[in-house]
Amino acid sequence: MPPMVREHGDDDGCVTDDVVAYYRRRAAAGTGLIIVEATAVEPAGRTWPGGLCAYTPAHLPGLRALAGAIHAEGAAALLQLVHGGPKATPRVSGRETVAASAVQPSGSRAMPRALTVEDVRRTQLHFAGAAELAMEAGFDGVEVHGAHGYLLDAFLSRKYNVRDDEYGGSMENRVRVLTETCRSVREWAGAGALLACRFSLFNKLHEGFSPADLATLVRGLEAGGVDLLHVSTLAVFGEYFDTGRSLGQLVKELTDLPTIVAGGLREPADAERAVSQGHGDMAAVGTAMMRDADWSRRAAGLLHEEKGDQPAG
Ligand SMILES: Cc1cc2nc3c(=O)[nH]c(=O)nc-3n(C[C@H](O)[C@H](O)[C@H](O)COP(=O)(O)O)c2cc1C
Repeated sequence: MPPMVREHGDDDGCVTDDVVAYYRRRAAAGTGLIIVEATAVEPAGRTWPGGLCAYTPAHLPGLRALAGAIHAEGAAALLQLVHGGPKATPRVSGRETVAASAVQPSGSRAMPRALTVEDVRRTQLHFAGAAELAMEAGFDGVEVHGAHGYLLDAFLSRKYNVRDDEYGGSMENRVRVLTETCRSVREWAGAGALLACRFSLFNKLHEGFSPADLATLVRGLEAGGVDLLHVSTLAVFGEYFDTGRSLGQLVKELTDLPTIVAGGLREPADAERAVSQGHGDMAAVGTAMMRDADWSRRAAGLLHEEKGDQPAG
């Protein structure tokens, strides 16, 4: 189950009983790995009213209850960590928005302030601190949110990152913030933590993001010490770069790291095909699982029925 914000936390970003019950049900259906929704690593990174947060001791008890409930039903649990960056919401965060560069974001969002190098380092420590809190709460690890236009993804973008320091310019430089953030998270979360990083290409394709850029990104994540890549797409089976291959297949050619693919997988047979055809090592099912808490149970029944054996409980 990929991360999906629901806005059911309380005003301070704490986990509520409703949040625990929602994830517990999906774990109880037999979901293997649940990546809990984007959780802010510091106040300025808050984006959604009712979005979860992980930066003060007050957030710990709720996160602990959440990890405990998911584990009690037999699933593994990661917490996705986010800084909203240019997509953060001042009304929720009570702070000015910050970004890689002061470039006007889409929509009616406020012009962000460009982070200084010192701010970048501080932000990386916020990710690391949130990861430490997640581990203390009992999660199996964390996922760094490097997708969908939020702060770390904005650094990867040619349009939204026009810096001329070590974090801008070449693709190597634009990936640096993600590599360093993952390294800091690894350091604070510990060697035993499962560390995933999610990325997407979406708008970057219109900015000329190339197969070579993809290779640099993947190398940067390997250098960051991640265990698991999470490829977010609009359509898992869609072709990229006129290669006849999906993004997941291209990523798998670039690395031996296990990969998760997400995007448009609705039916159990779609998820099965995503894995059997090598688009990813794991298939993430979002909207369908949000709508149907028992999706995983249904999938196990259907897929095992096809193979003529018993569902594995
Ligand atoms: C309501 C909603 C909330 C989402 N929240 C997040 C999020 O917190 N973090 C994230 O990386 N992606 C988020 N996504 C994207 C999903 O994880 C997933 O990649 C996307 O929905 C495509 O997969 P699907 O077609 O199976 O739903 C969200 C999607 C939806 C519909």
